Amino acid sequence: MTNSISVLERDSSDSPCYNEEMKTISSILSIQKVVTAIRDKKRRIGLVPTMGAFHEGHLSLMRKARRECDIVVVSLFVNPLQFGPTEDFKRYPCDLMADRKMAQAAGVDFLFAPTAEAIVPPDLETSVSVDKVASRWEGTIRPGHFRGVATIVAKLFQIVNPHVAYFGQKDYQQTVVIRKMVRDLHFNLKLRILPTVREKDGLAKSSRNKFLLKKERSVASILYRALQQAKQSVQEGEHDCQRLAQQVALIFSAEPSVQVDYIAFCHPTTLGLVSRVLRKTVLLLAVRIGSVRLLDNIILHRQRAL
Ligand code: PAF
Repeated sequence: MTNSISVLERDSSDSPCYNEEMKTISSILSIQKVVTAIRDKKRRIGLVPTMGAFHEGHLSLMRKARRECDIVVVSLFVNPLQFGPTEDFKRYPCDLMADRKMAQAAGVDFLFAPTAEAIVPPDLETSVSVDKVASRWEGTIRPGHFRGVATIVAKLFQIVNPHVAYFGQKDYQQTVVIRKMVRDLHFNLKLRILPTVREKDGLAKSSRNKFLLKKERSVASILYRALQQAKQSVQEGEHDCQRLAQQVALIFSAEPSVQVDYIAFCHPTTLGLVSRVLRKTVLLLAVRIGSVRLLDNIILHRQRAL
């Protein structure tokens, strides 16, 4: 019997949390045995899928899972399938020791860190592709990205079989794609999408922020300012998306180092463009500053007429 399974066999009647000592598991078979044993004991499993390089955004998902579930599994896998050939797969930050410490402190029970060969063997032929919502915005700029994400997330759902899976709102389109996949493929789990965690100046926490040079970092809060401007304008009664987009574009135009990929006012689930702010509309922003792409978003609510 592996260590990981014996952990489950302690009497936990006076403590719902197993995390006295987090276990790191790399074998798919071992984690499957662990989660089967947990499910047999009618415990709720929360899964936080990640690519590592943990920051407060990841930790907020782990802590929420800790509060809501009996067992917290965090997967750590830098997924080659979701990077294009010219993208930053090779330089994607990775520090397993630091990640282990942070996950342990956040109350995680199992860190599932499989090898690339196990998850993406050379003879892999099956993929999961979500059509429409994945083809827009990031899908246009990063062809194949969401097929890579959906394929790996489907595999993690299959392997870990969680009751609840946690994602951040920061990657809004990713959450929409995963929600569609969960519905279409009848995964029997709940998705929890948690608010974006931000730096003091509003920049959304992201593993890629560390690639911003000092000067670029000081400019990067422009995304947050743009989102706040849109929110304020909507609150003041501006519902025309073209005019709102112009206001946002004007903010970016003041910073020559910022290259805008898109400013999109969208329906929250189809991600199709809308011409007027609906009861609920999502504003998606993607820009490039130096070598770094930054994404952010906000959900806007139309003000009721008095
Ligand atoms: O958001 C991420 O870190 C990744 O896209 C995910 C969901 C872990 C899939 O590789």
